[in-house]
Amino acid sequence: MKIVVTGGLGFIGSHTVVELQNEGFEVVVIDNLYNSSESVLDGIFNITGKRPIFEKMDLRDKGSVQQFFKKHQDISGVIHFAASKAVGESVGNPLLYYENNLNSLVYILQELKELPSANFIFSSSCTVYGQAEKMPITENASIQTAMSPYGNTKQIGEEIIIDTAKVTSINSILLRYFNPIGAHPSAEIGELPLGVPQNLVPFITQTAIGLREKLSVFGSDYPTPDGTAVRDYIHVVDLAKAHVIALKRLLNKKNIDKVETFNLGTGTGSSVLEVIQAFEKVSGQKLNYQIVGRREGDITSAYANTDKANSILGWKTQLSLEDALASAWKWEQKIRS
Ligand code: WQD
Repeated sequence: MKIVVTGGLGFIGSHTVVELQNEGFEVVVIDNLYNSSESVLDGIFNITGKRPIFEKMDLRDKGSVQQFFKKHQDISGVIHFAASKAVGESVGNPLLYYENNLNSLVYILQELKELPSANFIFSSSCTVYGQAEKMPITENASIQTAMSPYGNTKQIGEEIIIDTAKVTSINSILLRYFNPIGAHPSAEIGELPLGVPQNLVPFITQTAIGLREKLSVFGSDYPTPDGTAVRDYIHVVDLAKAHVIALKRLLNKKNIDKVETFNLGTGTGSSVLEVIQAFEKVSGQKLNYQIVGRREGDITSAYANTDKANSILGWKTQLSLEDALASAWKWEQKIRS
């Protein structure tokens, strides 16, 4: 079965391509290489021995999207990762985010609605919950007004999918990720942040390897046990496996509704200081960090209620925070060697 993975050379996309190939799927990767590199194909090949079909394409080009789907009529499913995802950048450049993240989604759905039936997995985010009132966060927690254009594109994207599903043969699953971290244990693929990393774990590993002088911990006055903010850090390999399970649910027509939503997290919250301590343990070295003021727009706490994914998808995380941090560290050492 042929599966299209948009953004398939990106961080979560590349790990999902590996898990799809491990399950025997034929994979077609679409990527515009704006935030990834073609060398990721070599990493995927080194892990699975199979090279996915790769089509360099910008999904904002409607004609290219139409041409692609004419060429690949035998598609069984689409997993859609391709999007800009830097929260801070989205505040400064909202139109880039609305065009890239929403036009591409619309053009793909316009093609899928012409197929007899289509299976669509959407990369969404816990960011849609904002600061949820109650922890752990369930899928029916209220959607808060987005704190950034990036988060808004995820909310609007979900609404576009829901409205489209009502009048087409497209079946969809929305996967709301918590905080993806880590790398494939082989260190053949991993996160490749461009420039100064915005996210915590790549900043930690770049500090540990000497690329950054020190980590700034954004705030220690949150109402949490140690004062630093709490997140649900999920190993990217566990996250990738959830995509294959969700896809199979649609392929096997096991879905109850045309659109189903699942939180993907470990169900456990970890504070920034706990992540630092775990990293120091797995790396065997002290991390140079300094407590500074809060970062604008950050929430205090977010971690997933995983009951629905566990019971309905039959998926739960297998890898620990330390596994994820060890894999991130191994990857950082590999790419800087
Ligand atoms: C985690 C914690 C920071 C960097 C973002 C997006 C979200 C999703 C995941 C896409 C926070 C603290 C961070 C640093 C720090 N992405 N931190 N020093 O903000 O929870 O979520 O990435 O879907 O949409 O919002 O992740 O890794 O940026 O921050 O203290 O140098 O680490 O304050 O508490 P975040 P993050």
